[in-house]
This record gives sequence, structure tokens and C-alpha cells, in this order.
Amino acid sequence: MAKRQTANIKGTSAKNMEKELNEQLANLHVLYIKLHNYHWYIKGQHFFSLHEKFEEMYDKVKGHIDEYAEQMLVVQVKPLATMKDYLQVATIDEATGNKSEEEMVKDLSEDLQRMSADLYEVMEQLEDKQAMSLADAIQEIARDFQKDDWMLRAYLDKE
Ligand SMILES: [Fe+2]
Repeated sequence: MAKRQTANIKGTSAKNMEKELNEQLANLHVLYIKLHNYHWYIKGQHFFSLHEKFEEMYDKVKGHIDEYAEQMLVVQVKPLATMKDYLQVATIDEATGNKSEEEMVKDLSEDLQRMSADLYEVMEQLEDKQAMSLADAIQEIARDFQKDDWMLRAYLDKE
């Protein structure tokens, strides 16, 4: 079996790679806050189950953020680390308020689909550059998001 190695990200595409990696880090932060927003403001018949599900999700996102940023540092890419920067580069939207429980679930499902697709794209570029440790961390996050997206969509179909 080929040994999975980790190389630093260098070369002409390094700046672009840094930008894409930081966009996803910013999205993780926006999602983390959005999940808290929905956890606090969820109303309706499914309050107890969704309140709890959103908490489970933001707890996982918290772990993803730290591992992702630290794996960026391993390959010598600097993670952005201020809310101002995150809001400038994030590609998903913050919570706007006044969403029904079904709209919250639909919104999160769309975010997870978008983020997992973007993460897989970045992961493939990292694999080309042999940056395997970061690629592995990203795969784990994308897999988690795909699974939660499946659960959220199953929840919506059930209604
Ligand atoms: Fe709570």
C-alpha cells in the first residue's frame, strides 16, 4: 500500500489554495453560529428533537473547525482567525431569523450539501499536491456533513 504522505502546499497555485481553504474555514464558522441561532430560536412541535439535533451538530462543527485549521497549519497555510475575515470570505449566509422549523432544516441541508461538495473539490486538489493529512481531515468533515444532510432530508420527507 502506498504510504500517505504530507507535503507543504507550495507553487503557483498556493495562493488560490489558501483562499479556497479559508473560504471553507469561514463557512464552518458561519455554520457554527447558525446552528446556535437555530438551536435557540427553534419553535414548534419538533422543538425538543431539533433543539437537540442542532446542539449535536454545532458540537461536531466545533471539533471540525479546530482540526481543519490545525491541519492547514501542518501544511503551512495560514488559517484566517477573526470574525471580520470570516464574514468577508464566507460563501454561505448567516441566519436571518424568523424561519419556521422546516425552513431551518431545509436551509441547513442546503448549506451542508454546498459545503460537502466544495470540501470534496478542495480535497481532490490537495490529494494532487500530496497534502494528505489535510485532505483526510476534510474528507472526514465532508462525510459527516453528507450524513447529517441525509438525516435532515429524511426528516423533511417524513413531514
Ligand atoms: Fe443549549
